[in-house]
Amino acid sequence: MTSIKLAVIPGDGIGQEVVPEALKVLAAATPEGVTFEQTHYEIGAERYLATGEVLTDEVLADIRTKDAILLGAVGGKPGDPNLPPGILERGLLLKLRFELDHYVNLRPSKLFPGAASPLANPGEIDFVVVREGTEGPYTGNGGSIRVGTPQEVATEVSLNTAFGVERVVRDAFARAQKRRKKLTLVHKTNVIVNAGKIWSRLVAEVGAEYPDVAVDYQHVDAMMIHLVANPSQFDVIVTDNLFGDIVTDLAAAVTGGIGLAASGNVNPDRTTPSMFEPVHGSAPDIAGQQIADPTAAIGSVALMLDHLGYPEAAAKIDAAIVKDLESRQGQGPRKTAEVGDAIAALVVAG
Ligand code: NAD
Ligand code: IPM
Ligand code: MN
Repeated sequence: MTSIKLAVIPGDGIGQEVVPEALKVLAAATPEGVTFEQTHYEIGAERYLATGEVLTDEVLADIRTKDAILLGAVGGKPGDPNLPPGILERGLLLKLRFELDHYVNLRPSKLFPGAASPLANPGEIDFVVVREGTEGPYTGNGGSIRVGTPQEVATEVSLNTAFGVERVVRDAFARAQKRRKKLTLVHKTNVIVNAGKIWSRLVAEVGAEYPDVAVDYQHVDAMMIHLVANPSQFDVIVTDNLFGDIVTDLAAAVTGGIGLAASGNVNPDRTTPSMFEPVHGSAPDIAGQQIADPTAAIGSVALMLDHLGYPEAAAKIDAAIVKDLESRQGQGPRKTAEVGDAIAALVVAG
C-alpha cells in the first residue's frame, strides 16, 4: 500500500464548494494500492478575521511534510475594511508558492470537446502556459513613501534572476520537446527592457540546446489579440509571473471559461510538495450558492495525479471531464455537487 500525504486547503468562497467535489473525484480515481492520507487546513479569510493569523510558521512547516497540496481559492469579500486586498493573496497563496519554491506555474489550456468557447471559430486549442511562479513583480520588492500625500511614491520592482529565469525556461523547453515542439516567449521586451533582455537571452541560450524546438516571441499586448484571433498556433508559452497571470485568464475564457481551468504550482526538483489549484479565485459574487463549476478543481486533481506518477488515473479524470462536458449540451444548470457526482460516476464507469 502506498500512502500519499495530501494537504487540503479549501480556503475561501467557492473554494469551500469546489474542493469537496475534487476530493470526491480523487476518491473515485485513486489507483488500487494507493491511499491519500488527507490533512485539512482551515486557513483563509475566516481564520484571519477571527485570529489575525494567515499562514503561521507551524502550519507551513506541517504542510511542508506532505507529498502534495490541493487548494481551492483564497480571497475575502470585496470591500471588507477588515481584510484589505493582498493580506491573504500574499500571506497565504504567494507565501506557499514562494516558500515551497513552486517555480513552474503550469496552466494547460485545452478546448475539450463539448466545452463552449466564446470564439466563433476557435479551431483546436491545446497549449500549456509555463508561468514563472516565484519572481517578477510578485515578490514584494518595493514600497511606498509619503503615503496619502500628493508626494506619495509607490514602487513594485520586477525581480528577474538568471537562475530563476533559466530554470523555468528549461522546464518549458523540455515540455515543448515532448509536445508539438514550439515555444513562444511572451514578454514586453520593447518597454520592460532590462527584464526583457534576460528572458530573451536565456530563451536563445537554452533554445540552442533544443534545435528541434521552434521558438517565437510575442509582446504580451499582441498576445491578447493572438489568443482570440488564432489560439491554435500555440504549443508551449513561457512567460513571467504577472504576464502569465493575465494570459491564463484569457486562455481560460477562450477554452470554455474559468470554471474549467486547472493549474499546478510545481517544484520540478521535487524537494517540496507541489500545489494544485483551479486558476480561478474565491468568486465572492457566486459563493455559497452551489453554482460554481468544480471542473477546474477536478482537473487540478488530474494534474496532481499525473505529477505524483499516476498518469492513467489522471487520464481517466480528463476523459470523464470530456464526457461530462459533452453531456452538458442541452442540459440546464446543475449544482456544484451534481457536477462532482457526475464526473466521479464517469470515472468509476471509466
Ligand atoms: P475570480 O476568479 O474569483 O472570479 C472571476 C469571475 O469568474 C467571477 O465572475 C466569478 O463568478 C467567475 N468564476 C470564477 N470561478 C468560477 C467557477 N468555478 N465557476 C463559475 N464561475 C466562476 O476572480 P476575482 O473576482 O478577480 O477575484 C476574487 C477573489 O479571489 C479576490 O480576492 C482574488 O484576490 C482572489 N483570487 C484568488 C485566486 C487563487 O486563490 N488562486 C485566484 C484568483 C483570484
Ligand atoms: C492566480 C491568482 C493569484 C496570482 C493571486 C490571487 C495572487 O490571480 O492564481 O492566478 O496572481 O497568481
Ligand atoms: Mn490569476
